[in-house]
Amino acid sequence: MKKYIAYLLLIFILRGDGVMTFYKNIKRIENPEDILVLVNKNNKLDSTYIPKDLEKISIHYAHEEKYLRKEAKEAFEKMSEEATKQGYHVVAVSTYRNYEYQANLYKNYVEKKGTEYADSCSARKGHSEHQTGLAVDVEGENKDYDLFENTKEFDWMNKNAHLYGFILRYPQNKTNITGFKFEPWHYRYVGKEIAKKIYEKKITLEEYLKNPF
Ligand code: DAL
Ligand code: ZN
Repeated sequence: MKKYIAYLLLIFILRGDGVMTFYKNIKRIENPEDILVLVNKNNKLDSTYIPKDLEKISIHYAHEEKYLRKEAKEAFEKMSEEATKQGYHVVAVSTYRNYEYQANLYKNYVEKKGTEYADSCSARKGHSEHQTGLAVDVEGENKDYDLFENTKEFDWMNKNAHLYGFILRYPQNKTNITGFKFEPWHYRYVGKEIAKKIYEKKITLEEYLKNPF
């Protein structure tokens, strides 16, 4: 019995400030326009928030009509252009998503696979950074973002994304901090300076914002 209690305690400690607190004590996001805005399971965007400077990504680097905020869009196009020059094809498949779209996306996951699964890979309405217009899901040569990890473009992004201001937002082994499992395809624009710091320290946006340097 004692062993059992010790075991439960250990799990509780290991999970720390992670899963135990997701979707609890949710704060309203007051700085949605900030390039460093933190959107996660504890910080929620208003349903009415729509970025003012969304721009369409060049069709060379996007699947159909895709929009990002101006600064992120320009950085994404530069990055994809350089990738193309080097023989890689980094294409945007999901970018800005509005509140209702995200609500439906999450609802579909819940209906098909249940709440636990949905919460591991899809943000609830207002909790997706896709609503900021600063996040982009990409695909590479295999044209399947779900299998992006197996592409040469994934390696290229690992080495280069930060040089254009993008970070891998949901890295492996950081689920207890981000609340989401590894998403090799999801990148977040934070600007070159901060992207470099986050990249070099191998940390998440949550960790950086807790102790900015
Ligand atoms: N897949 C990411 C976490 C989102 O739904 O925003
Ligand atoms: Zn994404």
